[in-house]
Amino acid sequence: MNFAILDGKIIERSEAKVDIEDRGYQFGDGVYEVIRIYNGKMFTAKQHLDRFYRSAESIGIVIPYTKELLTGMLNELVAKNNLGLGIIYMQITRGAAPRNHAFPAQDVLPALSAYTKEVGRPAENLESGVRTILTEDIRWLRCDIKSLNLLGNILAKQKASEVGCFEAIQHRGENVTEGSSSNVFIAQNGVVVTHPSDNFILKGITKEVILTLCKENGIAVEERVFTIKDLYDADEVFLSSTTAEVMPIIEIEGKAVHNGAPGPITKKLQELFIEAIEKECGAITKQTIK
Ligand SMILES: Cc1ncc(COP(=O)(O)O)c(C=O)c1O
Repeated sequence: MNFAILDGKIIERSEAKVDIEDRGYQFGDGVYEVIRIYNGKMFTAKQHLDRFYRSAESIGIVIPYTKELLTGMLNELVAKNNLGLGIIYMQITRGAAPRNHAFPAQDVLPALSAYTKEVGRPAENLESGVRTILTEDIRWLRCDIKSLNLLGNILAKQKASEVGCFEAIQHRGENVTEGSSSNVFIAQNGVVVTHPSDNFILKGITKEVILTLCKENGIAVEERVFTIKDLYDADEVFLSSTTAEVMPIIEIEGKAVHNGAPGPITKKLQELFIEAIEKECGAITKQTIK
């Protein structure tokens, strides 16, 4: 049997149904999180929970559970679903109410749901690297909110997918922002550079882990805006996300990066990232690498 969380209760997933007028369904009026599970344990749970509450607060949704209660529910869900390696997907919407753009009355309860999914580590891509395209960033100006509204991201990812690429790197004019579902880093002359966490990008939890790992291990790192030219001139390029971890980029718009192979700084950060996972969730064995 598979279980899901709906409005504070763990129920059978097949019974988790939402109203046709749920504002998430009609407007994308809500926020979400994806949390990685290794060895049945949440990785960087606190950071994800903090971002979830921050995203909700920034659009005026009050999550009707404490972080402690919700964390407990999520742990229970993972255990009940017997999940070893995978993800939790969780979202909260402004609830169900007669369709009207303005917020509904105060007594309409936000709708929280969560489910788990088995997701392996992308071992082959992590080792060989991935190909990418470039695309103009057409999204709104609050990309720091992990909003359910992902049209700009979806259209960018589809463009990449149609030409067999893993990710679309977005740019506003000359400035590189982030991937459609990832943060983007370059390494030039031994310095790692990534876009500052402002309103133009999502402050990735994986990005934050990487910044910490750089600082702890003497790898020079800068959060500053960089350009498409910097991207093409870079010694190494990689992306980061909860499911993609530290993913080498070996091609941009058909042009090879680092002669088409992952570079040494990227590989070092991959090693350090695995260590960080293992510290929190236990050893990553061969069995957990699919
Ligand atoms: C637009 C965008 N940027 C960055 C990220 C990476 O964030 P995280 O490392 O928290 O998964 C994501 C993750 O899905 C994303 O959708």
